[in-house]
Amino acid sequence: MSYFRNEIDEMQGYTPGEQPRDRRYIKLNTNENPYPPSPNVASLIKNFDSETLRLYPDPVFCELRKKIASLFCLAENEILVGNGSDDILTMAVRSFAGPGRKIASFTPSYSLYSVLSKIQGAQYEEIPLDAQNGFSLPANFAEKVADAALLFVCRPNAPTGNCFPLGAMDRLCDACRGIVLIDEAYADFADDNCIGFPRRHRNAIVMKTLSKSYSLAGLRLGFSIASAEIIAGMMKVKDSYNVSTLAQRIAVAALDDRRYFDETVSKIRRTRSKLIASLRGKGFKVFDSQSNFVFASPPDGDAAGLYRRLKSEGVLVRHFPGASTGAYIRITVGTDIETDSLLNLL
Ligand SMILES: Cc1ncc(COP(=O)(O)O)c(C=O)c1O
Repeated sequence: MSYFRNEIDEMQGYTPGEQPRDRRYIKLNTNENPYPPSPNVASLIKNFDSETLRLYPDPVFCELRKKIASLFCLAENEILVGNGSDDILTMAVRSFAGPGRKIASFTPSYSLYSVLSKIQGAQYEEIPLDAQNGFSLPANFAEKVADAALLFVCRPNAPTGNCFPLGAMDRLCDACRGIVLIDEAYADFADDNCIGFPRRHRNAIVMKTLSKSYSLAGLRLGFSIASAEIIAGMMKVKDSYNVSTLAQRIAVAALDDRRYFDETVSKIRRTRSKLIASLRGKGFKVFDSQSNFVFASPPDGDAAGLYRRLKSEGVLVRHFPGASTGAYIRITVGTDIETDSLLNLL
């Protein structure tokens, strides 16, 4: 007899991207930022008074919420902070889904959505994107999402890198009777975003992370923006002290440094254009990308073989086996030097 609930016994856990420690790789597999965090972060850590760790962290993130509110012209009660944006996803699933309250998301997309649904015992529906048409939304998307209690929409989408049009995002929010959580983990690398949606759509939540564009994946800091009513409800289900004192302080320091953020994001966007053009020059099929990664299929279609060969040469990329994704590898945009090393190998 198992001690676990049926849902847990029957499910597979989330498989994170490889984080190997055996040798040094050019690591282009988990969409980390190739540049260090803002120098503000190093100086804060250097001068941090460890005595402050004696006390519990601020459970309602006053200083950090003030910073985020001023950056995005919001009220502080429209913001919720998480231990990474994965923590916010957990809060959303706890808040809005469960038996009889369905979760939906498009596929391929971030695989954690389905794992969290299973943990919660919620019905989960995957709505296939139109793979023949650049992984765009399917023609009947509005009717497909109507009865979801919680719809996850990743924009720009991972692992494909494309953005669904803003007009279609409005239609999604209008069509869905439940909550629409727009996962903007990669939106800082895109031409536009949905930051204004929660003020236009009562059911919209926009979620962001400092893991990618602020080079702070190891810190674990994400946040979401929604109506004060939705944020107040989600606050009830979060862990009491879900974000450490140090993480809250570092996040403020990183968010403060607008110049460094703009510079590193611009560098990544420039390298992304070069990478896409070079891959196309080598006969790869590559989608336009609005993210810090590109989704590319080699000329012979053997993406799994290419992933293995690159790994043996010390370059890690990610391969997602599956009918719609198996012919592609996802390559994180690194520095120019890392990108040149990859292109030389190819
Ligand atoms: C689409 C998407 N959403 C959310 C996350 C989680 O980010 P974090 O928990 O580091 O904020 C990731 C991480 O790779 C992601 O790819």
